Amino acid sequence: MPTPPRPATEFSPARPADAAGSIVAEATSRPAEIAADALVVFLAEGMLGSGPAAAIDRATGGLLGRLAAAGELAGKRCECVPVLSASGLAAGQLLVVGLGKREEVDAGVLYRAAATAARHLAARPRTKVAFAADDSWSPRQLEQAVAGAAVGMVGQDLYRADRRRTPFGTTVWVGAAPEAVRIGGTIAEGVNLARRLVNTAPDDLHPQSFADEAAAVAGRTGMEIEIWDEERLAAERCRAILAVGRGSARPPRLVLLRYRGPGGTSGTPDVALVGKGVTFDSGGLSLKPSEGMLTMKCDMAGGAAVLAAAATIAALRLPVHLVAAIGLVENMTGPAAYKLGDVITARSGTTIEVHNTDAEGRIVLADVLDVVRGLQPKRIVDAATLTGACMVALGHDVAGLFTNDQAWCDRLAAAARAVGEPVWQMPMYADYDEHIKSDVADIKNVGDGRWGGAITAAKFLERFVGGIPWTHVDIAGPAFAEKPKPWTDGGGTGAMVRPFVELVRGG
Ligand code: BES
Ligand code: MN
Ligand code: ZN
Repeated sequence: MPTPPRPATEFSPARPADAAGSIVAEATSRPAEIAADALVVFLAEGMLGSGPAAAIDRATGGLLGRLAAAGELAGKRCECVPVLSASGLAAGQLLVVGLGKREEVDAGVLYRAAATAARHLAARPRTKVAFAADDSWSPRQLEQAVAGAAVGMVGQDLYRADRRRTPFGTTVWVGAAPEAVRIGGTIAEGVNLARRLVNTAPDDLHPQSFADEAAAVAGRTGMEIEIWDEERLAAERCRAILAVGRGSARPPRLVLLRYRGPGGTSGTPDVALVGKGVTFDSGGLSLKPSEGMLTMKCDMAGGAAVLAAAATIAALRLPVHLVAAIGLVENMTGPAAYKLGDVITARSGTTIEVHNTDAEGRIVLADVLDVVRGLQPKRIVDAATLTGACMVALGHDVAGLFTNDQAWCDRLAAAARAVGEPVWQMPMYADYDEHIKSDVADIKNVGDGRWGGAITAAKFLERFVGGIPWTHVDIAGPAFAEKPKPWTDGGGTGAMVRPFVELVRGG
């Protein structure tokens, strides 16, 4: 097996090129006196009269007011107005970043605004960048702003000599509580870990190298880890995972992580996180066209989110007993590849007729969910880049939610809302079960035609959770940005890392 080109990276901090530098809190309430390469101040529409923006305005003799009067500064969402060497400021540059309407400012808006400012400034190397925190923000809002800044300064430069973003040497949060700064920085490390894994080329990140990354992360964060190789998978009757993996020269792996936080040392797990880790999805014999295949290194984004969320939860020492399971497979067309018409007996005993080898994620998850079910967690949540149909339904930016337990789904939706990641629940009527009936096996791996494809995929997964409260998150859209946005260079987004951490923290 070829070794990955680089050693497994540190969780904290990661490789210098893809990790935010140090992040510190500074107690002073006078941002104008902070010596830094740049000072970032947040501004909601029409809100020059209060908070740090007002302090900066006073310190600069009304500069912000004049910019606003001239129409150069409005505080609109994602607006970035740089002001060089303003008199009255110790920082070399002031950057005013817009928040939009004041009544709409929440943790998600702050995450994106801070990321937008950081991305803007990270276009050039900076030794020290200060952000002025507003003491009207809640601790959660401050955490998400801190996280956003540390995510926005990291680009997708893993393979580029001429980097587009350079993380700041030091980020200073002025007037911020040290605890919220620490937590926000830890959350950002998780998001940036998930992004780096998604952005790593598929020949570098394959089932074994993903498992190596997971082992490194587990070692650093104090999680127990098991890595099942093909022999163990066979001994555990994981024939569904093995079937999908048969077309590849890289054998599948299953990563099982366990974290017992303070107070969470006994009994069954409180929650199980499950991730789809298809490190490359060619479609198998139901081959994808080139355009659809190009971005399929992102098909392990659910697994990356689960690893990163577990790592963050462990790094924060949250009081929970957590298991995380990631099914790692490369879906290829090799001579032993699984075929249309094959009938696979999954680990649970359910038989699956294969109608399309490109509907591989649900087959892999069938066995991963069954392994997790055997651990008797109180609740399950999975993240998977499962269907193009979910993108047809909800577009690029919104994740689909599917559940067998409304209260559990509501908790996840609330957590996603609290950190500003858009999600939308889809129906799970029993009628959809008809769509995955097979003439020769218990179920088939596609619905009848394309209609409701995201739901029929979720209905397939539901067969393997054994009635445990479960929510499935289809992140085919939000996991990967094909184009840059004001707050991120394109590529992996780290979708669902922040909601999963928030879910476990319990609001
Ligand atoms: N990994 C894809 C889904 C996907 C598509 C993720 C686009 C991200 C962006 C999944 O394995 C897949 O190919 N699904 C098929 C299912 C179909 C064959 C029933 C799809 O959505 O077309
Ligand atoms: Mn596929
Ligand atoms: Zn896939």
